[in-house]
Amino acid sequence: MSRRFEGKVAVITGGGAGIGRRYAHRLAEEGARLVIADFDPEAGARVVAELEQIGNGGLSVPMDVTDAQAAAAMADATMAAFGRLDILVNNAAVHLDHAQLPFTIEAIPEWRRVLDVNIIGGLICATACRAAMAASGGGSIINQSSMAAYSGGNAYAVSKLGLNALTVGLAAQFGPDNIRVNGIAPGLVDSEAAVEWMNHPDRKGIQDALVGGQVIKRPGTMEDLANMALFLCSDEASFITGQTILVDGGFTKKAY
Ligand SMILES: NC(=O)c1ccc[n+]([C@@H]2O[C@H](COP(=O)([O-])OP(=O)(O)OC[C@H]3O[C@@H](n4cnc5c(N)ncnc54)[C@H](O)[C@@H]3O)[C@@H](O)[C@H]2O)c1
Repeated sequence: MSRRFEGKVAVITGGGAGIGRRYAHRLAEEGARLVIADFDPEAGARVVAELEQIGNGGLSVPMDVTDAQAAAAMADATMAAFGRLDILVNNAAVHLDHAQLPFTIEAIPEWRRVLDVNIIGGLICATACRAAMAASGGGSIINQSSMAAYSGGNAYAVSKLGLNALTVGLAAQFGPDNIRVNGIAPGLVDSEAAVEWMNHPDRKGIQDALVGGQVIKRPGTMEDLANMALFLCSDEASFITGQTILVDGGFTKKAY
């Protein structure tokens, strides 16, 4: 196995479960030390214990990505523990049923929360980590989007389309500090939360329907996403910034 991230330090928001946890394992396997910034302290501690098994250890910083002070403290804690910060993955989100909201006045606070976590949370964490990344010689930020950005119209889709625009803006703003900013827009994959969602009796057959709409006729996996995330964070992607890459088996962009 290659060790593309030997000596590097990566922060993953929402790294306590699912895709963020998978990214953490894969980055650790290639030499990175990890900071798990998740608002579930038990999940964060559990992942750090798993990382210790891989051999690199890590740091759990329980926080909400919408809390600017907590994000600044997280960046400080990262520098205090490891002396550098090279990679940030903005992965935490309100998603699945929690982000499919009624178009009513009563639901506006929930709409605000979805947009706050999924867009402003990314802006907060990127801004909080910028100085530390610049002091480390630059780095890579990944914003975790969704293919829903291109086909939906609910709060989740609105938030992920906004996040894609933020990726373009951050790439331009942070470029002078040698920080690249890209996004990954997945189709449905096998995180525990997504599997539970697709196995609900109301959604019988949804996975087959999605796979049927893909060009590549197999379910997507967290491994597919991790492969892209690690590529985008690596020096192999040193000429790529401001892009959001669909990893959806060809569901979104296909010719008929
Ligand atoms: N699972 C999929 O199929 C899929 C598809 C497309 C996009 N995505 C995106 O991938 C990301 C991860 O998805 P997942 O299925 O692994 O999610 P998940 O629900 O399994 O994990 C999300 C993690 O984020 C944490 N979190 C949530 N809100 C937070 C906040 N405000 N501050 C800090 N931590 C917070 C949770 O505690 C949890 O550990 C999300 O951005 C999601 O929108 C997922």
